[in-house]
Amino acid sequence: MSRQPLILSAFLMNTTSHIIGGAWRRPDAEQHRFNELPHWVSLVQKLEAAGFDIAFFADVVGLYGDHEGGWASHVRKGLQIPSNDPLVLISALAAVTDRIGLALTSSVIQAHPFNFARQISTLDHLSGGRVGWNVVTNSQENAHRNFGGEGLAKHDDRYSWAEEYLDVCYKLWEGSWEDDALVQDKTRQHDRGQGLHADPAKVAKIHHQGDRYRVEGPHLSAPSPQRTPFLFQAGSSQRGRDVAAQHAEATFSMAPRRDIAAEHARDVKERTRKFGRGPEDLKFIQGLSFVIGSTEEEAQAKAKELDESIDDHALIAHTAGSLGIDVGHLPIDTPLEELEHTEQAQGHLSEIKRMAPNGKVTLRDLAQFRAQSTRVTGTPEQIADALETWQDAGIDGINVMNSTIPGSYDEFIQHLLPELRGRGLARSADEESGKRTLRGRLTGSDRLPVTHPAAGYCRAFTDSSAEATEIPAEEFLKAKGF
Ligand SMILES: Cc1cc2nc3c(=O)[nH]c(=O)nc-3n(C[C@H](O)[C@H](O)[C@H](O)COP(=O)(O)O)c2cc1C
Repeated sequence: MSRQPLILSAFLMNTTSHIIGGAWRRPDAEQHRFNELPHWVSLVQKLEAAGFDIAFFADVVGLYGDHEGGWASHVRKGLQIPSNDPLVLISALAAVTDRIGLALTSSVIQAHPFNFARQISTLDHLSGGRVGWNVVTNSQENAHRNFGGEGLAKHDDRYSWAEEYLDVCYKLWEGSWEDDALVQDKTRQHDRGQGLHADPAKVAKIHHQGDRYRVEGPHLSAPSPQRTPFLFQAGSSQRGRDVAAQHAEATFSMAPRRDIAAEHARDVKERTRKFGRGPEDLKFIQGLSFVIGSTEEEAQAKAKELDESIDDHALIAHTAGSLGIDVGHLPIDTPLEELEHTEQAQGHLSEIKRMAPNGKVTLRDLAQFRAQSTRVTGTPEQIADALETWQDAGIDGINVMNSTIPGSYDEFIQHLLPELRGRGLARSADEESGKRTLRGRLTGSDRLPVTHPAAGYCRAFTDSSAEATEIPAEEFLKAKGF
């Protein structure tokens, strides 16, 4: 049976220790070179040459919750600190790549939407339409305090905030400028003289007035190739799934099991109908890491050796950061049952307990769960078999996590990709030539479909166009008493 190619995304972060805590200490790991541009240029060019669709940069704008009584251990372990801004990095990477999509996380708490929309439009212009945005609300207390908040805003309020933020951005990206507004005709004659840079009848203010934002407009950037960047979302709560179903074009998951991913994918795709969209409008991309061997024994031995290099406490600090409890000083064999009194922890803990064969889960299991539940180990054939079953479960693509950079991607490209190509699970190298926008690459169309909520803003503000503000000379002079 011929298969649909999977979307291939590389799951990256502009920091040393993203997900597989402690792996940075391996002799072959180079992720601690994240401050150096050549480190990223070489990786992203390699991903592009191999046919990856997306280099996706996660981001946070604050510390995870305390571990071992404070945040010293985050600093000691390099747990997403230091970390650098992905938007600035992507701007540099756009200059040295032609085809790969460049996606970044940006939280609604970190930038005013007017400024963010302009930065993204600029990047979309400069990259030829290759920008993607993972819309996050950010669940770190420290991040909210970094931007003047009293503390963490409530879960559903954060999503309402995100919806208004999206609305402002959509108005600017989709509604402020018509496609043919930018004329740049040096010789065009009109009643005010010669030369028409842009048509004032086709550039409008948006006059947004909402609970949180007041934005007059117009957008200062003319329409970029995609207008709205390709939209990702990664929430898994009920509200998060609704936001994904209404707005996202792809949703990221780190489901710890295939059946959980299958349920999530089916549910979130089904929810799109509530918003006048369809299941085909939303791609489901699952985070997975790979340990590849020429025999099964070799792969298992490599996985064992990798586990030995992992820092359990870095993984626990990362995972427990979202549980709202500091478990750092507890013995590593503490059963999770003893922690269940916090409200925030319930969902995560019950998910982890579902995974445990005998229902008994300790802190050590929490660490291993993070590293192992999304890992596929085996020969290229065995891994390709497993990916076929993930695809059958409803996933459209994979977000390839790394234990080492560049090693994890070198191995994927050299050993697994040929097998995936042979089965049609990855596009062939010939299909890779030619420039396309990220949306064009993933959906066949550069612009959002008419069923997307942003598309409704197309030509919605023509009454507020520049031309509508013009007062005829006679009237103007009379009003001024001439
Ligand atoms: C693959 C993946 C990538 C994510 N990347 C980020 C990120 O870069 N920054 C961030 O603050 N949250 C990130 N998240 C967290 C989600 O945005 C979201 O806050 C989290 O899944 C909880 O959402 P919920 O409250 O709707 O369940 C990511 C989640 C997943 C599954």
